[in-house]
Amino acid sequence: MIVLGIETSCDETAAAVVTSAREIRANRVLSQLAEHAPYGGVVPEIAARSHLDHIDRLVAEAAEEAGVELSALDGIAVTGGPGLIGGVIVGAITAKTLAQVLDKPLINVNHLEAHALSARLVAEVPFPYLLLLVTGGHCQLVSVEGVGRYKVLGTTLDDAIGEAFDKTAKMLGLAYPGGPAIEAAALEGDARRFAFPRPLLGRPGCDFSFSGLKTAVARTVDRLPPGALGRQDIADVAASFQAAVTDTVRDRTRAGIGTFAAAHPKARHLVVAGGVAANAALRQALDDLAGAAGFTLTAPPPALCTDNAAMVAWAGIERLGRGLTDGLDFAPRPRWPLGEVRAEPT
Ligand code: KG4
Ligand code: ZN
Repeated sequence: MIVLGIETSCDETAAAVVTSAREIRANRVLSQLAEHAPYGGVVPEIAARSHLDHIDRLVAEAAEEAGVELSALDGIAVTGGPGLIGGVIVGAITAKTLAQVLDKPLINVNHLEAHALSARLVAEVPFPYLLLLVTGGHCQLVSVEGVGRYKVLGTTLDDAIGEAFDKTAKMLGLAYPGGPAIEAAALEGDARRFAFPRPLLGRPGCDFSFSGLKTAVARTVDRLPPGALGRQDIADVAASFQAAVTDTVRDRTRAGIGTFAAAHPKARHLVVAGGVAANAALRQALDDLAGAAGFTLTAPPPALCTDNAAMVAWAGIERLGRGLTDGLDFAPRPRWPLGEVRAEPT
């Protein structure tokens, strides 16, 4: 099976061609970073317009790189939400048009489901597995019991984890997106200089919270000498923040493993996915945790953690293989929680 994936839900315009043998034939990602940089964040109207300008060309390039005629595809998969609605509409219309003109099956993929299944594109990960989903808009522990079968065990009570990275970076005057900038700055920092809180550490359940940590970082930055922050100050705040996030995530994931293992005593797989899963310190902490619990951690390579269309094509393959296709009339959705995804056509 060979499927085209289209992703336009945020600020990456992406098209990919993937086979059911886990071969990524093409994986084109066009970042709109430079277009949004002057505004310090993603501007939805600029994003939608830019997706419209580039998606046709990216699809053609992906097909060419993959060495496949569009007429030879087995299906067209597209992110139908959640995301910035203007962008999601651009992707959905592109996919619907291709599916209609080429007379191919159409698969409406939930963006979070695409992240959730991305591990199965790179490794043999059987269901059920415990997923830590860490993106710009989410932070969840999910029991992944099959395609379209997601049980959310814990979620953030306030800010998403990627948002915490992005806001901290902004306070430090670092570039957007904040995650990679914080990770780079932290390499030269002293993680023990600032004792930031570890929200919900040791509490029962497996929810997350990041707003208290964000407030503590803001207070610390305010107390540093006025004027431009020094390079070492920035590095120390970044390192201390990253250590607090890592400790929190390790603790909450440990609790998640306990809840998950009680329901699935034979399951042994932990998966981390989403943009923040590109963070090396977090990956290391999760690897240690998984090892101690007798679990195997699967973390896709960073390029498949941040937004891309290969994971959308793969989720399309997983659904198509189970006969789950969608009508040309499906509605793009700005909001579409993972717990509401079903193993049935939308
Ligand atoms: O999954 P993603 O690409 O888009 C969403 O679906 O939200 O995640 C984007 C988030 C941003 O908040 C970005 O700062 C964060 O992932 N991120 C990172 C790293 N790379 C991207 N956070 C921490 N460390 C990184 N290396
Ligand atoms: Zn994403």
